Amino acid sequence: MCGIVGAVAQRNIVPVLIEGLRRLEYRGYDSCGVAIVTAAGPQRMRSVARVAELEDQVREARFEGVTGIAHTRWATHGAPTVNNAHPIFSRDALAIVHNGIIENYESLRETLRGKGYEFVSQTDTEVIAHLIHSLYQGDLFAAVREAVQQLAGAYAIGVVHKDQPHTVVGARAGSPLVVGHGEGGNFIASDALAIAGSAKSISYLEEGDVCEVTLEGVRIVDRAGNPAERVARDVQAYSGAVELGPYRHYMQKEIFEQPRAISDTIPADAAFDPVQFGDTAAEVFRGIDSILILACGTSYYAGLTAKYWLESVAKIRTEVEIASEYRYRESVPNPRALVVTISQSGETADTLAALKHAQSLGMEQTLAVCNVATSAMVRLTSLRFLTHAGREIGVASTKAFTTQLVGLFILAVTLGKLRGHVSAQQEDAYLKALRHLPAALNGVLALEPQIIAWSQEFARKENALFLGRGLHYPIALEGALKLKEISYIHAEAYPAGELKHGPLALVTEAMPVVTVAPNDALLEKLKSNMQEVRARGGELYVFADADTHIASEEGIHVIRMPEHYGLLSPILHVVPLQLLAYHTACTRGTDVDKPRNLAKSVTVE
Ligand code: G6P
Repeated sequence: MCGIVGAVAQRNIVPVLIEGLRRLEYRGYDSCGVAIVTAAGPQRMRSVARVAELEDQVREARFEGVTGIAHTRWATHGAPTVNNAHPIFSRDALAIVHNGIIENYESLRETLRGKGYEFVSQTDTEVIAHLIHSLYQGDLFAAVREAVQQLAGAYAIGVVHKDQPHTVVGARAGSPLVVGHGEGGNFIASDALAIAGSAKSISYLEEGDVCEVTLEGVRIVDRAGNPAERVARDVQAYSGAVELGPYRHYMQKEIFEQPRAISDTIPADAAFDPVQFGDTAAEVFRGIDSILILACGTSYYAGLTAKYWLESVAKIRTEVEIASEYRYRESVPNPRALVVTISQSGETADTLAALKHAQSLGMEQTLAVCNVATSAMVRLTSLRFLTHAGREIGVASTKAFTTQLVGLFILAVTLGKLRGHVSAQQEDAYLKALRHLPAALNGVLALEPQIIAWSQEFARKENALFLGRGLHYPIALEGALKLKEISYIHAEAYPAGELKHGPLALVTEAMPVVTVAPNDALLEKLKSNMQEVRARGGELYVFADADTHIASEEGIHVIRMPEHYGLLSPILHVVPLQLLAYHTACTRGTDVDKPRNLAKSVTVE
């Protein structure tokens, strides 16, 4: 998704801006650009290639300045061309970078056309540029404040004007923006990572805030125009680019980091004590009668898995809903429900909006399962469970997913204990199983060579079907999502019992059918579903447990998981599916870490 960096300093800030863009690259983008302020007007360089290419352009042109803004763009309105890349200008006087979507851009454009403004890009951003320009009367801060009142939708912006060569103005609503305080310079950015090191401390802007960043300092006002104090927090120095080590891609590295990530996520002691979720958790947990989980993408599938655990272990009614659906639907609010949001980034626009929607409906008990301690989501909820996956660079989530599952399992057992459904003996067994997970995962990762062999077959296919039952249906969904995200093979997942109600019509020799087949209560039923596939000539690729009696034969390929893992089995079974998608994508030669059209952190609707 789009990323913003802006800086005012006493030195040339272009290297800081480019470095900031480089650190935002992981979010996904399709073009980038940088502008500096000069007395003659803003000057810019833009590229539809990588930030490294923009850096070459900048170096060759000796592009330098003390005040500037920069951007990575993930196209929403208008194709990813140089002309649509930000910074966007208004009449060679003003430049703007923007993250978000302006919903009323069409009516604003008509009004501005009426005032003689010409539009040269297809972006919604250009209306903000002209709107601010039309309101400018010598004070950029005032013009931006007036302009944002007319905007509907989501935005974070950075703006410069030729007549104020040492000022950057920022504003946010719906998209994140931080201001950074440094020595000899001040900054704005989409996240702290982009400016860590240059900025010693950062403040998070709140909804509706407008800020003015100059050499002297930072001024912030809230939506109503009142001066606002936003706490400044120290930022840790940037720890450097995450090294790839012996791996070909970040995704592969992150798959192999899962034993470490999981072990870091399991609390060292008192794992099932409510205090893991916050000081007031015990009281909150005692008062709730159900759970509503809200999330997007892979995090949503973690929620679907958690439903099985919460209902079977904690005996608490659980609903799981896609955040973008929940936020716009009329629902029946339950003030006694615990709203659980799941998010790797903690910045996903739809999940944040769904959370705020639930809060606005009177659901005050909220808990975030999140990988970023400083994210908007963690700041918005009263309780939280932090996963310790470490930075995830690959757009397709892997280690964040399995650590979310660990957090959600801990939540289920904690609630189960509190509600009297988990005996001391069971608790002990769950803890042992959790603690043994990293070792068990290492055993699963050792299956990689066998999965590489399968991936050669998959790379030649255009469609694939994934089947699972019960706890492993969400894992089948996640396996299909991984395959389509990075290898661009069309993949769908079904609960195996639904096979006869539609997907069986698709099964021919050309359709590989991946089956997640742990040795659980549903195995016999699953075996019947597999026979239905074989009878139609479908080729089965089965992930079975060590003790599952399914043998390889013509049309049935079996990989055995090293151990049977009971309730926690989804955490193991998803790993070979991640590896299958990864190696299939490598064979097809796709850009695994940055799949086309996708972004790591979806900060627009
Ligand atoms: C994007 C990413 C996915 C992720 C989803 C939700 O689509 O590409 O990997 O699962 O957003 O993101 P979140 O940060 O809220 O977990």
